[in-house]
Amino acid sequence: EKGGFDHFMLKEIHEQPKAISDTYRGRLSRDKAIIKMAGVEDNMKKFLNANRIIIVACGTSWHAGLVAEYIFEDLARIPVEVEYASEFRYRNPVIREDDVLIAISQSGETADTLAAIKLAKSKGAFVFGVCNVVGSSIARETDAGAYTHAGPEIGVASTKAFTTQITVLTLMALRLARAKGTINSSDFHRHLLELEMIPKKVEEALKSDAHIRIIADIYKDAPNCLYLGRGYNFPVALEGALKLKEISYIHAEGYPAAEMKHGPIALIDENMPIVVIATKKGHYEKVVSNIQEIKSRKGKIIGIVTEGDTQVRELADHIIEVPETLESLSPLLNTIPLQLLSYHIAVMLGKNVDQPRNLAKSVTVE
Ligand code: M6R
Repeated sequence: EKGGFDHFMLKEIHEQPKAISDTYRGRLSRDKAIIKMAGVEDNMKKFLNANRIIIVACGTSWHAGLVAEYIFEDLARIPVEVEYASEFRYRNPVIREDDVLIAISQSGETADTLAAIKLAKSKGAFVFGVCNVVGSSIARETDAGAYTHAGPEIGVASTKAFTTQITVLTLMALRLARAKGTINSSDFHRHLLELEMIPKKVEEALKSDAHIRIIADIYKDAPNCLYLGRGYNFPVALEGALKLKEISYIHAEGYPAAEMKHGPIALIDENMPIVVIATKKGHYEKVVSNIQEIKSRKGKIIGIVTEGDTQVRELADHIIEVPETLESLSPLLNTIPLQLLSYHIAVMLGKNVDQPRNLAKSVTVE
């Protein structure tokens, strides 16, 4: 059942190339230069007239929502707010009839997300679901939606659900950008082309496994770890930290790299590993200077870099390469080494990777 892998989590990490292509298959046609998603087409007016998009989710799905905020605003020029479902539902939020609420949930059963949907519906907003489990409560409760086609995710730590959520949300943002005319046809085409190359590039990224295992062995006993990223990769830093916390029980925090000097830099000494997402495009030079600041305080840098990178290689203690892609698609690749790093650390520490203590696969109580 684990397909020859030691754990479901590892199997699911390796299923990502297929899961991502299953998610865009039938929706993306590069030849015809179109994206078609029934749930979006049928409600195009609602999306185009949206005052703003509010995304609600929990945990890893909330991180996918944060990535989506960058993509929707950047490509489709629609204002987006991303909310923890548990906070949104209890803070008397301002919801208008021309708001569109997107709820993201792998299981489709998360209690707080479901409650946030019901609240938004009661205020007249249009509610769209991005779920993995077909026929789940959230899939049924929403006005329309798009499934991620990740297949069953058994490991409590979400992996392929995250990358397929980002895939669906990217398709939506591109579709809306095209409809709104906020993306020109050559950029649109470029995105379709690059998106189709992602599964192969994820496969490429997975090949760093043995190298990542060596890094995992060096840092497995660290009591703390920081994850830094900027722009599209700030949420990836949060997700990397969450993965490490959940399965290895090592305390980890994700931060936007530039926030370092507003506090967390005080934590840095020669014992602190810092994973920095420093791929080309998107604030690269700024991230390089963040790395220099850390190095001058003797922090240990694990850099996630674009293949062939030389600048970070010189500064970092370790680098993990990923193939080059568009900045907007880079979260799909940069997530992969972070999943593998936490996986190997947890295995080396003898933790129950698929069923970490105190956690449930779906949180059906608030
Ligand atoms: O099923 P959902 O996507 O609604 O679940 C949300 C969170 O409970 C979930 O992502 C959780 O944070 C995972 N354990 C993360 O790996």
